[in-house]
Amino acid sequence: MKALVLAGGTGSRLRPFTHTRAKQLLPIANRPVVHYALQAIADAGIEEVGVVVGGHGDAIRRAVGEGSAFGLRITYLHQPRPLGLAHAVTVARDFLGDDDFLLYLGDNHLEDGVTGFVRRATAERDAGRLLLTPVPDPTAFGVAEVDGEGIVRQLEEKPERPRSDLALVGVYAFTPAVHEAVRAISPSGRGELEITDAVQWMIDRGWRVRAETTTRPWRDTGSVDDLLEANRSVLDRMEGRVDGKVDPHSVLVGRVSIAEGAVVRGSRIVGPVVVGAGAVITDSHVGPYTAIGENCRIQDSAIEFSVLLQGASVEGAARIERSLIGREAVVAAAPRPLQAHRLIIGDHSKVQLIP
Ligand code: DAU
Repeated sequence: MKALVLAGGTGSRLRPFTHTRAKQLLPIANRPVVHYALQAIADAGIEEVGVVVGGHGDAIRRAVGEGSAFGLRITYLHQPRPLGLAHAVTVARDFLGDDDFLLYLGDNHLEDGVTGFVRRATAERDAGRLLLTPVPDPTAFGVAEVDGEGIVRQLEEKPERPRSDLALVGVYAFTPAVHEAVRAISPSGRGELEITDAVQWMIDRGWRVRAETTTRPWRDTGSVDDLLEANRSVLDRMEGRVDGKVDPHSVLVGRVSIAEGAVVRGSRIVGPVVVGAGAVITDSHVGPYTAIGENCRIQDSAIEFSVLLQGASVEGAARIERSLIGREAVVAAAPRPLQAHRLIIGDHSKVQLIP
């Protein structure tokens, strides 16, 4: 079995971050989201992986490489425009050949991996196999109706009136039967070739598509809140480890991971927290559930339940929470007495001010 990881698309719900970087490269506990997908694929025993990339292809190549770090052989496939998940499968037609494959959406994060799913797909070889999970608001997902035997009867992409609460998790297994389906369908109302339509096409022609339902932790990291949640749950499982320098005036509580080259002075860090190489934290309170990227600077501030990307700096912030702060971004206290807020922020940014 091969795997096809989709790492193209626009990431419009994660603007402004996705103006300058692929959403699959945003970090969970200081590792790019797509690394977790590749690790899960390798753990499932798959060796050959196609990665579909679009506009941010070069950055993905740099962050992922040719696969040896994961024990994989990776082939990059260029999708000129994000015309849909089924379109991405057509782009990979030659790479996939006549092999069965696992389709893995590169912004999805499954904490328990896909080893069992791949094992059952290989053993049973239904034309399609879907992973489903019950969600409170299915309107944001593909939604499936399944019969008593676990066979999928009906699929709908982001329905206004969902017929079940079972959302499609971004992991699918297919036999080569899917290639006929992705060629046969037409673009949906939002102009994309939908994989849900391709699977429905297979069902309508009598191919068997089986569903597996899971209640294990899963996130589509396509929004800030989901990314923060994925960060929380990965940090929750992380081991503490201190390779950087922590001065005697600092206190570390619980599981804190401080990379080599990071420095903590006069600060209290309450785990789970991860601090990247070269970061400097001075006279601050950090955590819990916070990931500080490489070379960040934090001074005289309190930050919790947040993610800071590489090179961000925060100074004099009384309290920051539930925040995602971009690369090299600067957050600083205004001079007192405060007469006005001064903001230099990019397109699609969001700032909440205390009145
Ligand atoms: O996360 C699960 C959901 O993923 C499913 O419930 C939906 O049925 C499925 O359509 C998908 O919906 P999204 O709206 O979340 O898909 P998104 O546009 O975010 O794309 C998913 C991944 O595929 C993401 O890593 C970007 C990549 N992609 C997307 C498109 C449209 C491509 O590589 N090429 C594309 O053309």
